[in-house]
Amino acid sequence: TKMPQKIIIDTDPGQDDALAILLALASPEIEVLGITAAAGNVPVALTSKNIRKVCELAGRTDVKVFAGCEGPMEGSLFTAEYVHGATGMDGADLPEPGMPLQPQHGVDFIIETLMTHEPGTVTICTLGPMTNLGTALAREPAIAARIQQIVLMGGGLFEGGNVTPAAEFNIFVDPKAAKICFGCGAPIVMMPLDVTHQTLTTAKRVAAIKALGTPLADAVVGWLEFFERFDEQKYGTDGGPLHDPNVIAYLLKPELYEGRFCNVEIETDSALTKGMTVADWWGVTTRPKNATFMRHVDADGFYALLTERLARLPAKG
Ligand code: RIB
Ligand code: CA
Repeated sequence: TKMPQKIIIDTDPGQDDALAILLALASPEIEVLGITAAAGNVPVALTSKNIRKVCELAGRTDVKVFAGCEGPMEGSLFTAEYVHGATGMDGADLPEPGMPLQPQHGVDFIIETLMTHEPGTVTICTLGPMTNLGTALAREPAIAARIQQIVLMGGGLFEGGNVTPAAEFNIFVDPKAAKICFGCGAPIVMMPLDVTHQTLTTAKRVAAIKALGTPLADAVVGWLEFFERFDEQKYGTDGGPLHDPNVIAYLLKPELYEGRFCNVEIETDSALTKGMTVADWWGVTTRPKNATFMRHVDADGFYALLTERLARLPAKG
């Protein structure tokens, strides 16, 4: 059998981040070397706590969790309590975590892990603003050639943005970090809003998770029902987009996704379009291709995978 894929998850939980972490921890095809907390949906003090709450919910107090940067590489932190609630994971009430944070800074963990593992054997999954990876690349450019691939949730093209008409949240919060990552030369697979707006938390899909009947499933349903309300209002849909688990689902079943290898540049200066992922989908420029921009997902296949894997996690709350 194939060796498990070694990954680092960089994340800003966030209810959708939490589901991505659970999906990874439930999947033997993946070895999570560590989880680094990003500042995004809520400040890093909360995201580093939320990650540990999710690990404990999954019965995985062995996972190494690191706090990352307090804010973007440039400018001030923009958070999203209006979507995720004050805790960042409203909708389920989990106990304060008992497991410790690692003393090492998340950026140092990313650098050390990439420098000590064989080149091309560690995948970096970013589920929030790309501050930690961007900072690691700026501090130690040699890691770029050692990254197996960067698989990220972020950006958008045909769907536009979700924070401004042009920019998606993860890129908007730290466009400088995103620019560094997209320019570093490592293989990139991006899950933009164009994909995540197809994986809606419809009532039928949430009911299937509820039917698992475990305390973990109840927590997940609580998160989804809280998290989806903002986007249901905004888009008038049955359910809201479930963004981040698409990154992990891609590692498990890439055949669920279709996209195009093309050039993607990040707008960092314009007041109007700062944080926009300018994807040359139609090849109208000669800019070098640097990312696989995913545009379609088998949404039912995605939810079947997610639900089946959640069922594998320990029943204890
Ligand atoms: O725009 C959606 C992204 O922003 C998701 O990663 C969500 O968790 C928030 O971080
Ligand atoms: Ca996120």
